[in-house]
Amino acid sequence: MTLRNSLLTAAVLAAAFAFPAMAQAPQGGDTGGGIVRVPKPVTGEQVYQSVCQACHMADAKGGTGAGTIPALAKNPRLAGAAYPIMMVTQGKGAMPGFSQTLTNAQMANAITYVRTHFGNAYAKPVTEAQVAAMARPPSDGGH
Ligand code: HEC
Repeated sequence: MTLRNSLLTAAVLAAAFAFPAMAQAPQGGDTGGGIVRVPKPVTGEQVYQSVCQACHMADAKGGTGAGTIPALAKNPRLAGAAYPIMMVTQGKGAMPGFSQTLTNAQMANAITYVRTHFGNAYAKPVTEAQVAAMARPPSDGGH
């Protein structure tokens, strides 16, 4: 095998392993050896850019393409933490819930990011614990 081919093979293998790893969003931040092999979105900005931006757009103004995506920019509905936490953990309509694909920390950071950017000034950070409390399915049988 030529060097070029083996490099290509290595790249293909790396991609094959990297993607399932990202989809599962492991709770731990690294590989155990202290070396982060797959860049995972960590900060709210990174989560926003790699996940939310696809629909809500880079300027968070949403849009109307295949469907209507509400603007997160200057959005008074972000004033309380509960509403965006519900949206991000459970989803609604055409918005998927992310409790299976993002960690609670990633969701908390992304929500904090949108609440403090794009013309929103809701400074109190959303914590991982707040997200965990709402991401958990209702424990009793309800009403
Ligand atoms: C697949 C497209 C898609 C992605 C990805 C997505 N959203 Fe949404 N989002 C939507 C749609 C569509 C709605 C409107 C849902 C409804 O009300 O029926 C929405 C609504 C919201 C709302 C409520 C806005 C309002 O005024 O009611 C918030 C907050 C929100 N999204 C935050 C996020 C965050 C944070 C992320 C990233 C973690 C994200 N969204 C990723 C499509 C998406």
